[in-house]
Amino acid sequence: MKTVLSGIQPSGQLTLGNYIGAIRNFVKLQHTHRCYFMVVDLHAITVPQNPADLRENSQAVAALYLAAGIDPNKASVFLQSQVPAHAQLGWLLTTLTHMGELERMTQYKDKSAGKESVGAGLFTYPSLMAADILLYNADLVPVGDDQKQHLELTRDLAGRFNNRFGELFKIPEVYLPEVGARIMSLDDASKKMSKSNPNPGSYIALLDPPDVIRKKISRAVTDSGREVKYDPASKPEISNLMSIYASCSELSLAEIEAKYEGQGYGPFKKDLADCVISVLEPIQARYREIRASGELLDVLKRGAEQASETAEAVLKAAKEKMGFVV
Ligand code: TYM
Repeated sequence: MKTVLSGIQPSGQLTLGNYIGAIRNFVKLQHTHRCYFMVVDLHAITVPQNPADLRENSQAVAALYLAAGIDPNKASVFLQSQVPAHAQLGWLLTTLTHMGELERMTQYKDKSAGKESVGAGLFTYPSLMAADILLYNADLVPVGDDQKQHLELTRDLAGRFNNRFGELFKIPEVYLPEVGARIMSLDDASKKMSKSNPNPGSYIALLDPPDVIRKKISRAVTDSGREVKYDPASKPEISNLMSIYASCSELSLAEIEAKYEGQGYGPFKKDLADCVISVLEPIQARYREIRASGELLDVLKRGAEQASETAEAVLKAAKEKMGFVV
């Protein structure tokens, strides 16, 4: 059975972009793969986090995994900080990573842009992400489009380690959704939808109530035309909303175009809101049950124990190959 690993940062409210780009594939892959799904709290602190918010958001992300349909009896669900091997292999891989490689990372460039000073962890973030993946010898890494560059670096680091110290790490493949690998902001289709955007109108949070979802979609920026047509170059806003529609319904992009031909954007947006709400409402109901049940921390503890077994063995092998006395 092939292995899958992925993670999401608990750095704010999860968005529909996280769901469509990543979580939905997690749920799908758990049936056919050995899966590890993490809450990457060590990555979240690469930008300042309020401790109380970090603790709450970490549990919220884990609960959303379960609410979205990840079954902890099928997949290991855990907090990255509860498996110490991540930080340890992360350090080892930092020493193999070149400054120039890290300087080229667009996530780093975006997050550091305009800041007077950024933490060194934001810069070395991709080496820790490589450790996350390589510790489990993951074959597939389901992510959205924005993580492709980090995956490429992970592949390079795995190859570099293997060449220098002897064969150990598997070279992982990226696994992208067919539609919705890059969901854009509702207020600006040149930016990806992001949980760290200070304008909540720019994203749909997975826990937004239905009336808020309707309002955000009705206010979403569009062009001044009236044709519902998938054309990302000249109609980026409508194309983005269509990707969300296709992802939240059974309809293809072509079927959506046909359905709204000659109708303008009003009916399209109204139905889109209904589709999104029909996907999110059951997740929200399960989320509330899971948070109320008090079982979450036990699930995470069990997940961390399972993950540690694999991760510790791989870390030990990596240390041995590098020349540490183990
Ligand atoms: P993060 O927390 O920014 O995002 C989590 C996942 O959601 C996807 N995503 C999107 N997909 C489509 N459209 C969007 N607008 C959108 N926004 C986010 C991301 O691509 C990602 O799959 N570095 C990672 C976390 C990480 C990780 C890992 C991932 C740490 N270690 C190991 C995989 C394997 C990140 O910042 O994701």
